[in-house]
Amino acid sequence: MTVATQQLRLRRPDDWHVHLRDGAVLQSVVAHTARQFARAIVMPNLTPPVTTTAQAIAYQQRIMAALATHTDAPDFTALMTLYLTDKTPADEIAKAKESGVVHAVKLYPAGATTNSDAGVTDLLKHCGAVLEAMQKHNLPLLVHGEVTDPTIDVFDREAVFIDRVMLPLRKQFPNLKVVFEHITTKEGADYVATAEGPVAATITPQHLLYNRNAIFSGGLRPHWYCLPILKRELHREALLAAATSDSNRFFLGTDSAPHVKGQKEKDCGCAGCYSAYHAMELYAAAFESVGKLDRLEAFASLNGPAFYDLPVNDSFITLERTETMIPDVLDMANDQIVPLAAGESLNWRFVE
Ligand code: NCD
Ligand code: ZN
Repeated sequence: MTVATQQLRLRRPDDWHVHLRDGAVLQSVVAHTARQFARAIVMPNLTPPVTTTAQAIAYQQRIMAALATHTDAPDFTALMTLYLTDKTPADEIAKAKESGVVHAVKLYPAGATTNSDAGVTDLLKHCGAVLEAMQKHNLPLLVHGEVTDPTIDVFDREAVFIDRVMLPLRKQFPNLKVVFEHITTKEGADYVATAEGPVAATITPQHLLYNRNAIFSGGLRPHWYCLPILKRELHREALLAAATSDSNRFFLGTDSAPHVKGQKEKDCGCAGCYSAYHAMELYAAAFESVGKLDRLEAFASLNGPAFYDLPVNDSFITLERTETMIPDVLDMANDQIVPLAAGESLNWRFVE
């Protein structure tokens, strides 16, 4: 008889892709992220977007001020990013690097997702000098890897992005660090596993746990709608294999993207799943489903710091095997938000 592991002690993890928003929502969500993670790469898609180092520093101060209002606020570092536009000046990159606050630059193809109107229209045409500076200063490019061409099926946009953007980009800037954010396909996982040079990927809990049937099971389910959209089961299996493999190129990025209930449940609902509240429980469930809990620490706590040239965290966390019900809703900013896997039960609980 094999006795199932009852407790998991891991080096404290980091979230390499999270949306913390601003104002009242920030106030709520930052405590969830800081409870589980020591650090997080904070996405810059505010309105207006965070495009300068000065704005990133100011945003980091708002994050820390919001966290400080919580009693027993844990130690937490917000690693900031800049939002790349067609007009980002190349000299902003040296400033960003020198600040010690900005750790990456995010590429949103214009129109690809929430608040991406100011995004890049043609990367290699408009951003060559910026990419050159990033390569020189060793500042990673974080990529929302989907083409926006309306003739390309929404389920194929990531695979097409590899051919149309990723390959030419990597060819022109072979030493630029690139993180293929929230990969959702076998093509994405295969590309990252085998590409030459400094390439890595983040993977969300929803893409490890669900396939696209979740969006349509028994009716239209807006809380499973995120971008890039959930894909077929074969892609989910490929992502789970990549996340739990021996490769150090895959690491944790929740893409936790809060939108209050009413903004999801409407005629044109927002894209994004909220997972900051229970991120490690979700990832533990995914890793356990393929008997790979032993790979969780590398994915959650070791591979990300290695890629970003940062030390691993000194402290540890514990996950306990306990049936944990995910609430139907969470209070948020005088409103409510539906967490990922609402109403489901998971086998693990984050203890501290
Ligand atoms: C994100 C958001 O809401 O900001 N939404 C999402 O579905 N992931 C944007 C993004 O990361 O694409
Ligand atoms: Zn995101």
